[in-house]
Amino acid sequence: MSIKIAPSILNADFSNLGALIKKLESGGADDIHLDIMDGNFVPNLTFGPLIVASLRKITSLPLDVHLMVENPEHYFKAFAEAGVKSLTIHSETCTHLHRSVQLIKDMGLKAGVALNPATPLGVLEYIVQDLDVVLLMTVNPGWGGQEFIPAVCGKIQELRKMLLNAGSNADLQVDGGINTTTIKAAVDCGANSLVIGSALLKEKDLTKALEDYRAVAAEAAAGSWWHKVK
Ligand code: DX5
Ligand code: ZN
Repeated sequence: MSIKIAPSILNADFSNLGALIKKLESGGADDIHLDIMDGNFVPNLTFGPLIVASLRKITSLPLDVHLMVENPEHYFKAFAEAGVKSLTIHSETCTHLHRSVQLIKDMGLKAGVALNPATPLGVLEYIVQDLDVVLLMTVNPGWGGQEFIPAVCGKIQELRKMLLNAGSNADLQVDGGINTTTIKAAVDCGANSLVIGSALLKEKDLTKALEDYRAVAAEAAAGSWWHKVK
């Protein structure tokens, strides 16, 4: 299972977003993680499909949208038309999670489900086979620059076991507080897809920082219990 590094642009200087995305692309990012917040499901507001459509024109990297909004299905079509590759929705926002996941897949997009730190894995039991991505929040969603919540480590391990038992190739993505220390813990426990925001963007040399993160993650994966099982 490959390691993926997905930079989050949430803490970017938005007046220079295009230049940043080009640097991330040339520096070897696997995709761009776009945090959409509605000021309702989470207290913060960010941006919507118009900005995503502009970004689509300047990069060929996959655009990976993390929807932290109520009624996410209202926005699926607009993001699909903006050219995104995948949509990840929060289980906490979906009364009909199975239907919402199918709607995403019917549009030809990859489907992800995100869980807040306190949301149990049980909500995935009857849907995991249908997912391309499971995102475990390692902070409470809303802002970049928060601290990784260590209690989520056990949940990452349990989810990796669930994916292995289900024969699923879904990416196990972690999001929030990922830095050179926590990336190792997250990968040791079972994560293979790492969203990295503020810790990456504060680096001057993004190419080197991406290489360093990938090296730490690859080493942790190679020595991990779940890599051996696989
Ligand atoms: C938080 C967002 C994250 C955030 C990560 O709600 O979903 O993607 O940008 O930023 P860091 O890596 O700074 O925690
Ligand atoms: Zn995110």
